[in-house]
Amino acid sequence: MKPVVLVTRRLPKAVEDRLRRDYEPRLNPADTLYSTEELIGRAKDVDAILTCHTEKFTSEVISRLPPHVRAIATFSVGYDHVDISAARARGLIVTNTPDVVSDATAELTMMLMLGAARRASEGERLVRTREWKDWSPSFMVGTQVTGKRLGILGFGRVGRVVAKRARGFDMQIHYHDLQRMAPEHEEGATFHATPEDLMPHCDFLTLHCVASPSTVKLLNAARIALLPDGAIVVNASRGAVIDDDALIAALKSGKLTAAGLDVYNNEPDIHPEYRQLPNVFLMPHIGTATKETRDAMGFRALDNLDAVFAGREPRDRVA
Ligand code: DGY
Repeated sequence: MKPVVLVTRRLPKAVEDRLRRDYEPRLNPADTLYSTEELIGRAKDVDAILTCHTEKFTSEVISRLPPHVRAIATFSVGYDHVDISAARARGLIVTNTPDVVSDATAELTMMLMLGAARRASEGERLVRTREWKDWSPSFMVGTQVTGKRLGILGFGRVGRVVAKRARGFDMQIHYHDLQRMAPEHEEGATFHATPEDLMPHCDFLTLHCVASPSTVKLLNAARIALLPDGAIVVNASRGAVIDDDALIAALKSGKLTAAGLDVYNNEPDIHPEYRQLPNVFLMPHIGTATKETRDAMGFRALDNLDAVFAGREPRDRVA
């Protein structure tokens, strides 16, 4: 008998085809977001759950999952939506999808950086609303990216691909992570031992750290104050790592020139002031949204489930 897998969101066709071939999937063709009660109800008699960051597996949800559920494979690199300690305590295997998301997320990060620096939201709105009337040397002047200092907070897989892409713009790379990387990963980037040490070196700052209790509001008012005046902040990791009130205050005061954001606290009901600010370039959490990457994420999640049901250690086990 094939293992039964509850699939909480619609997945790419090739991934669902492989699911049908190897599992008995309970799919969600309407792609609706299940409530907690629906999620728990639909998990009855399933062997595993293939989920996304949109479903929250709190300790309460995990404690109410039917005993049959052996594994949660999340279709994401981030796993802050799963209470990992609760999963471990219950003996539930949890896997994620690292590596395969790095290129797409780094591309989107470059887009956020360029979009924020070159005022993409304002420019596009002017053209679409026919408010664009003239050209002059002082019209829509932005910030040049080429040759600037880029600070990367979190120099893991995504952060290092961002560094590679940014070198194409002759950017000088500075980073902070919990420990200094080996020279082959640094590729000439300058290590800073604390976030505070990094901040003064960032004409641009991009965040690529894991969301965890220790990184909540990592970018707060005190650290923003250490950035050079006029810096630009970019975030394609998780909204939780930014203190929204502090970022908004700095964007209003002119301390920061602009921000490019793909992720937010409380998505999709984001802090309302972001929508009012002209100097933010906003995207709806689409860092991994390319056909290639979404297929690869699905296959990676299935590789992990295949390992669980073959009695092997899954490659991307996080609990
Ligand atoms: C990830 O992979 O974590 C993306 O944010 C999509 O959930």
